[in-house]
Amino acid sequence: MAGIGTVGVIGAGVMGGGIAAQVANSGTSVVLLDVVAEGAEDRNALSAGALARMLKTRPAPFMEPAAAVRITPGNLEDDLGLLSECDWILEAVVEDLDVKQAVYRAIDGVRKKDSLVTSNTSTIPLGTLTEGLSEAFVRDFAITHFFNPPRYMRLLEMVAGPQTRAEASERLCAFADTALGKEVVRCKDTPGFIANRIGIYWSTVAMQEALGAGLTVEEADSIVGRPMGVPKTGIFGLADLTGIDLMPHIERSMRTLLPQGDPFHEVAGQGGALASLIEGMIAEGYTGRKGKGGFYRLDHSSGARVKQARDLETGEYRPAEKPELESARAAKEGLRALVSHPDKGGRYAWAVLSRTLAYAATLVPEISDSIDDVDRAMRAGYAWKHGPFEQIDQLGARWLAERLAEEDRPVPALLQTAGVRTYYRVRGTVAEALSPEGVYAAVARPEDAFELADKKRGREPLASNGSASLWDIDDGVACLEFHSKMNAIDSQTMAMVREAARVHERGFKALVIGNDGDNFSAGANIGLALFAANAAMWPVIEQTVREGQDAYLKLRDAPFPVVGAAAGMALGGGCEVLLHCDAVQAHAETYMGLVEVGVGIVPAWGGTKELVTRHYLDPARPGGPVPPVARAFETISLAKVSTSAAEARTLFYLREGDRITMNRARVLADAKRRALEMVAAYAPPEPDELVLPGPSARLALDMVVDGLVGAGKATAHDQVVTAELAEIVSGGDTDLTETVSEKDMLALEHGAFLRLIRAPATLRRMEHMLETGRPLRN
Ligand code: NAI
Repeated sequence: MAGIGTVGVIGAGVMGGGIAAQVANSGTSVVLLDVVAEGAEDRNALSAGALARMLKTRPAPFMEPAAAVRITPGNLEDDLGLLSECDWILEAVVEDLDVKQAVYRAIDGVRKKDSLVTSNTSTIPLGTLTEGLSEAFVRDFAITHFFNPPRYMRLLEMVAGPQTRAEASERLCAFADTALGKEVVRCKDTPGFIANRIGIYWSTVAMQEALGAGLTVEEADSIVGRPMGVPKTGIFGLADLTGIDLMPHIERSMRTLLPQGDPFHEVAGQGGALASLIEGMIAEGYTGRKGKGGFYRLDHSSGARVKQARDLETGEYRPAEKPELESARAAKEGLRALVSHPDKGGRYAWAVLSRTLAYAATLVPEISDSIDDVDRAMRAGYAWKHGPFEQIDQLGARWLAERLAEEDRPVPALLQTAGVRTYYRVRGTVAEALSPEGVYAAVARPEDAFELADKKRGREPLASNGSASLWDIDDGVACLEFHSKMNAIDSQTMAMVREAARVHERGFKALVIGNDGDNFSAGANIGLALFAANAAMWPVIEQTVREGQDAYLKLRDAPFPVVGAAAGMALGGGCEVLLHCDAVQAHAETYMGLVEVGVGIVPAWGGTKELVTRHYLDPARPGGPVPPVARAFETISLAKVSTSAAEARTLFYLREGDRITMNRARVLADAKRRALEMVAAYAPPEPDELVLPGPSARLALDMVVDGLVGAGKATAHDQVVTAELAEIVSGGDTDLTETVSEKDMLALEHGAFLRLIRAPATLRRMEHMLETGRPLRN
């Protein structure tokens, strides 16, 4: 199958720009075209302007600024010819059929044979888009529906028409999956496809029911949030984020498109309480976070930032409250406990969930033949923790059907199909899902990819404790999984690291360190460190430092390759374990950093040593002994955290030879492949000896910090912590005639850590971090 070398994107608006950036993030060249803006001197003003804007946008569309050079901006009058080079041309212009068709005709005149053309339309059916276009064009055409923002939203809905060539849609899906990192869900050509069809119904119902029950926005969000497995913004917070001004357009287009009899018509409709609330807010300029606020706003009038919430009846803003609904707490016992709770939160949860789940159940097979695809779309497109059918399984299909019947509400056929069965089940090591016909079949997985859950199914771990486990992931490779809260590292984790460093004794030839969680590891468990320090358990703390250093060295020196499978946050001690791996296979969205100074300590599980060594060995560094010392000092003293794997490389947390995987679902599989590749020629690395400048460099670094303190840019305790850091990175009591061994560096880390952990200001930093999640600037 031919690959995709260059991509053309037409329309440099919100979506076109963001999609172009994600294509560029994947290392692919992009041609980005828009119309010639009227009266503009620069005929590329729109596309070039989009590029300039995106370089300043936060969260950043680009994984590193350097990716922007892969995009060639142009306009549709002078530069159409550039599209003749493109293997895939994506249209993301305004949602207007005539405009889109005019663009297609222009594309068709210049595109090369077999190139693919897709639309990012959110509402126009494929059949309508291609009406009147040549047969050759229709065969190469599909819909690729990205979610906003395209870098961060994982879902890509893909609709192929009856005439679309199978090879064309397979090539697109493969590229979207591996190069763009998207969770690709194939959809039928129905209005709103899968995610918006269910998601818009759900959000409308959730708001309406909140209004009907007289709940405050905070009460509603405290239920339709974490307790229901939805991001904590909840439903009103989500509307603020996506833009309240978009709601009437979305509602209108869904009402126009959906067949009569669709339950959406019952919940939508002009003139209702929700519609007038929204209209009123838009008229007042309350369009959400991009405007002056929405259901929530930040009030600065008192000098401080105070979060306020809108009173849904009076329209006035008052300080936001933290509701304490018992039902929200009951949700810990499961979804059934939540929706059965008699308080207003429980009644609200039942109203929203029963309507949403029943709606989703009526839509299969209309929108998809696969309940797993529906669940995947809701997880990846709306960030639901569990898809609708997984949620029905939590309630019990029979239980839900009975409760609907008790309330004289229609029971969807698919609930009856399940009966007493669940939609998902496990048979041996295979996960199966129920088809609309009521037959179980294996859940399809993308080729060459697996989650750890797939390897764990039907198996016992090789070893396990409360914080970590060791698994057989086949082909002679073991996997070390962290599974404590936030995957924080404690003594049990370290015990399992030591166990993992010996997997060759169990017949394994390679090790992967990774998990299915959102975060690789948030770092050492500072709650435990703080407890031990408050109780003056110095020998325990001393042992923790030594054990960690020892365990990470054992990993590195093990006689087999160790590959870190990084994703999400890899901070502090979590970053340090990756620094000791032979290679790292990082998800593109990996946020790595040695952040210890934020809690008043220094990286002391070999992290400081590793970063200095990496800068020292960098062939491109400027000459002399000071640059590696100064660079490592800067990165650690500022607690720099990468905003992507690409940036982690520029910070030296990743090396040139470490690799990046765009799709989260492929990280473990790619890490395992990498580990196996390394087996044949593997020899553990030799520890490096460094020639470091010693006290002269330490004094220079101290002076820099003194200056910052004088200018009010660093605090008194920053000075204490960075002085300890300066002592380590400069090599301690050495000079250019001596070498500093790895052992020496570890001893310096050890000493600095033990001095800092005794400082009351460090303990205050730790307490503050545990309480607020933010560093204290003392
Ligand atoms: P936008 O308004 O930000 O950008 C549209 C772009 O089309 C503008 O840059 C505009 O200059 C260009 N354009 C206008 N007239 C044109 C013409 N005659 N020929 C060529 N280009 C022209 O719109 P947005 O939000 O980026 O939407 C683009 C497409 O993506 C639409 O089909 C929309 O339905 C779809 N979509 C939007 C999502 C969103 O969240 N905004 C999400 C998913 C899909």
